[in-house]
Amino acid sequence: MIVLVSIFSPVALWNAPDAHVARLRERFDGVRFVHARDRAATLAAAPDSDVMFTGELDAETFAAARRLRWLHSPAAGVGGMLFPEMVRSPVVMTNSRGIHADTMAEHVLAVWLALLRRLPLAVRRQAERRWSQDELSAPPGIRTIAGRRMGVVGLGAIGGAVARRAAALGVEVHAVRRRPDAPRPEGVRSVSPPAALLDLLRTSDVVVLAAPQTAETRSLIGRAQLAAMKPDAILINVARGRLVDEAALAEALAEGRLGGAALDVTAHEPLDPASPLWDLPGVLITPHVAGMRPDLWDAVTELFAENLRRFRAGEPLLNVVDKLAGY
Ligand SMILES: NC(=O)c1ccc[n+]([C@@H]2O[C@H](COP(=O)([O-])OP(=O)(O)OC[C@H]3O[C@@H](n4cnc5c(N)ncnc54)[C@H](OP(=O)(O)O)[C@@H]3O)[C@@H](O)[C@H]2O)c1
Repeated sequence: MIVLVSIFSPVALWNAPDAHVARLRERFDGVRFVHARDRAATLAAAPDSDVMFTGELDAETFAAARRLRWLHSPAAGVGGMLFPEMVRSPVVMTNSRGIHADTMAEHVLAVWLALLRRLPLAVRRQAERRWSQDELSAPPGIRTIAGRRMGVVGLGAIGGAVARRAAALGVEVHAVRRRPDAPRPEGVRSVSPPAALLDLLRTSDVVVLAAPQTAETRSLIGRAQLAAMKPDAILINVARGRLVDEAALAEALAEGRLGGAALDVTAHEPLDPASPLWDLPGVLITPHVAGMRPDLWDAVTELFAENLRRFRAGEPLLNVVDKLAGY
């Protein structure tokens, strides 16, 4: 059996470390691991590969991968690989949902508190060696999370982890998800279908986007949705940039119709230096790091190894993607 590991990126962290591929080689006798470090090497190795461990795949490489039976993604979001040929094919796709969830929930709480307590402004004044007590307490002032209402959009691994932590801190949590009747994570007061999104937005002090990028969630938060939000509400996007109409968001923030936004993801990454989002008041931008943790590759490799063991044993795989639903 040949496993093609093709995880490379200009971003240092998104390259499969050699040591982790070596670990897989030691663990699986009878499996040949080919470690491709660029697209040309991936394309060359694709025709002989039974399994691919990759987060990026284009239609040409997929067409060349005639033996492929299973693909595992090191990421949770797989929307970019769900082109029609892949969706129609019998190739099974699995993802790494779940391994980022706790870290992402810490990130959501961190950026929410940072915006409520105006830490970005405090940090700017610190760099200028200025004591900003009056400025920080002037309207909208320093706010607290106690008694606030959170709307979680997408109540999967990440949304559930956020909801549990927020509820434990006294936040009233409500959510929308695609299948509202699925088991509800602890602490969530109500769960509604996507059709109830506007109601959730109208009543939330903070809205957390934790849904996958699919045909239904593209520009989920547009002009009408932003207009429904409370003028002092905060939008936190840790899902995918394309869930938000960024031009409409920039407008709402510039006109003071929204209290702030924390964006870990943007429609185009890296975010264009010319984007108005960089300088708008109340915007906290992090460069797609909400899921980062020191042992991330250990967790990613462990999940893949467990699935490879299952694949060889003919057992059901973990985290099978519903290719038609898009996640
Ligand atoms: N920033 C980062 O570093 C980072 C890291 C990891 C993941 N992500 C992003 O976060 C997304 C979620 O990750 P996850 O691990 O939580 O995935 P997940 O466990 O698959 O959860 C996805 C959730 O979204 C819900 N959903 C699907 N379509 C929806 C819609 N139209 N409206 C409302 N909710 C909808 C699903 O509903 P049901 O449960 O009812 O089916 C599910 O609750 C990923 O797809 C990825 O894009 C970002």
